[in-house]
Amino acid sequence: MQIINAFNCIYRALVTFAAMTEPCLALSLNVTAISAQNGASVLECWQMNTPFVVSTEAGTAGSASAVLGNVTGLTYTVLPAGFDGGLHVAPKNQWVAFIKGIAVVTIPGDDSPNGTATITGGGFGLIFAADTKNVSKIGHITRYPGITETVGLAIPTEDGEIPMHKVLHRGPCSAYEVTGQLGLATGRG
Ligand SMILES: *[C@@H]1O[C@H](CO)[C@@H](O)[C@H](O)[C@H]1NC(C)=O
Ligand SMILES: *[C@@H]1O[C@H](CO)[C@@H](O)[C@H](O)[C@H]1NC(C)=O
Ligand SMILES: *[C@@H]1O[C@H](CO)[C@@H](O)[C@H](O)[C@H]1NC(C)=O
Ligand SMILES: *[C@@H]1O[C@H](CO)[C@@H](O)[C@H](O)[C@H]1NC(C)=O
Repeated sequence: MQIINAFNCIYRALVTFAAMTEPCLALSLNVTAISAQNGASVLECWQMNTPFVVSTEAGTAGSASAVLGNVTGLTYTVLPAGFDGGLHVAPKNQWVAFIKGIAVVTIPGDDSPNGTATITGGGFGLIFAADTKNVSKIGHITRYPGITETVGLAIPTEDGEIPMHKVLHRGPCSAYEVTGQLGLATGRG
């Protein structure tokens, strides 16, 4: 129901191209984050404070876009099938956009569902890594168990900024929490 509401909200904006006068539920991106608490890495589902809005940029004008802040640098990484990245901390506060393959992040010592995130490369492949060494002693493990290579874009934020967000809950975002963008798929014919 929330997806439908959010869809209607943005759709109305798309079709009318007008600022909305009625209050309507804004759709925000949720991303799985590798965060830290009490010196240890934890998985959390973060909801971005900045919601999707109707873009006014040439080329995307009229479609939904969410501004996620300023970044610096872009590293394109190819991880072979079956690669084990081992235990490590995030080198920087950064976005990682998996565009192909599969990445499985585990938190050592947490065998509960809250301790594992499986990220499939593609449209739902964006995560945020914030367990830098000053906040997490040992970090997390990342493995790439796919049958193809996994491709990830590491995108550190400017000045190590962490995007403004609300923690929805401990553990990775659920399928429901990342597929809300599907409601944006049907634009103006
Ligand atoms: C991003 O950088 C621009 C230009 O320096 C600045 O105006 C803007 O406030 C920055 N945005 C954020 C979220 O820091
Ligand atoms: C931890 O280090 C990162 C850079 O690696 C920095 O951006 C962040 O602000 C630091 N956090 C704290 C709590 O000191
Ligand atoms: C997982 O996290 C939720 C909070 O999102 C908590 O209620 C639950 O107890 C945790 N489950 C385990 C097994 O730790
Ligand atoms: C984010 O999560 C909320 C539920 O908390 C959901 O209504 C919304 O559709 C999700 N956003 C996306 C883009 O999936």
